[in-house]
Amino acid sequence: MARQRMLRFPEGFLWGTASSSHQCEGGNRNNQWYRWEQQGHILTGEHSGDACNWWKRAETDFERAEQMENNALRLGLEWSRIEPTEGWWNSSAIDRYRQMLKELHRRHLKPLVTLHHFTDPLWFADRGGFENEHNIRYFIRYVTYVVQSLQDLCDFWLTVNEPNVYAFMGYVLGSYPPGEHNVSRALHVLRNLMQAHVEAFYAIRRIQPAAEIGYCLDYRLFDPASSFSPLDTLVSAVQDAFFNWATLQAAETGRFSFPLNMALAPIPRASGARDYHGVNYYTRDIVRFDPTRPAEFFGKRYVRPGAVHNDPGLEGNFGEIYPEGIYRVLKGVYQRTRGNRPLYITENGFSDAHDDRRPRAILEHLAMVHRAIREGIPVGGYFYWTLVDNFEWTEGWGARFGLIELDPYSQERTPRPSASMFGEICRANAITESIVERYAPEAMDFIFPQSDSELAKSASV
Ligand code: FCB
Repeated sequence: MARQRMLRFPEGFLWGTASSSHQCEGGNRNNQWYRWEQQGHILTGEHSGDACNWWKRAETDFERAEQMENNALRLGLEWSRIEPTEGWWNSSAIDRYRQMLKELHRRHLKPLVTLHHFTDPLWFADRGGFENEHNIRYFIRYVTYVVQSLQDLCDFWLTVNEPNVYAFMGYVLGSYPPGEHNVSRALHVLRNLMQAHVEAFYAIRRIQPAAEIGYCLDYRLFDPASSFSPLDTLVSAVQDAFFNWATLQAAETGRFSFPLNMALAPIPRASGARDYHGVNYYTRDIVRFDPTRPAEFFGKRYVRPGAVHNDPGLEGNFGEIYPEGIYRVLKGVYQRTRGNRPLYITENGFSDAHDDRRPRAILEHLAMVHRAIREGIPVGGYFYWTLVDNFEWTEGWGARFGLIELDPYSQERTPRPSASMFGEICRANAITESIVERYAPEAMDFIFPQSDSELAKSASV
């Protein structure tokens, strides 16, 4: 019998799902996102409500993750629960997080804990949030309290989730709170969030010298509509530089590149302030020069016609499903950081309510992660976004990223085929021919090309 082809992942590779506090816990009424929902900014008119009810029953979903033979899980802490008013610490919130973390350990799921994932306590937002550099000290005080309280249960921290998205969506596009359209303010917020990460890194390091500490960025590809057009090429390169690489460079060196360094103060002690690079990757945009869009550097973004894409209606945020992109991003981060730290895919996912593209998408993205590993890029784990459908910010319940479907009103869960597929991959620590055959046979040639040169061709950059 012919031997089964397989793509095996390194020993100890972390397999998990990613989530955040506000999107899963339910009942979070004390942060700026809740207020934003009440003000009617959610496109579907919905609210986070009970979300996935994790504040009361996260354990039942942790059990599902264990059944899928995941060995890790990324979850967030809600600052507004832990410090509901300035300087007042709610120890019962810490107790609840201790229960959750203990349960993760009991189920052999290594916790990766996010300290800030888009939500700010109302009192902090009302003092100007991260627009004001002086407010960073509040964040550090919270981080210190949390790490002192939970250090026996967690040694793998993610300080700040996607500072580039928080700044861009909140201060340029205005679709996240505070809903502004001010590029200069966005850049200051971005800078302050990076400084918050750096200071958090050192605060955690002091308390827990052996902890693994990092942050993550959202990496998005911007490709020119026509590579023959100098203007399309220029504006897509500028968007790419601003959205992706300026922040990474600032994190690595403490300085933003020209011309941003004229406006933004350097970040002290930045270089060396991370133990890993967190990579979130979802999609790519095609960019055409458009003189009417100064706020987006004169580039109009759109989804490549004919592309396989996420569910309709999400185009602005989640368009094309483009597996080669994850390889290109891993390579870009690796090269720009000269391989100085391991990388983790801290998020990658697809909104696909009917689960008719997700199995293939997961397999093809993982094949590209495997390719990066084969080429020597040290990727230590993959966290699929997300375990159970959750409250997707401005999209409300209109985006369905879960391996498990959730009816938020009845709280009923229905695993999608992708859930059992992901479980099989985690169990095998590999993609096998049999898994591809059963879940997405149409991906077979992409995943197991006849020769490596074919694979190289399919992923040429
Ligand atoms: C990322 C966010 C995460 C979730 C996914 C779909 O940008 O970090 O909270 O919304 O997108």
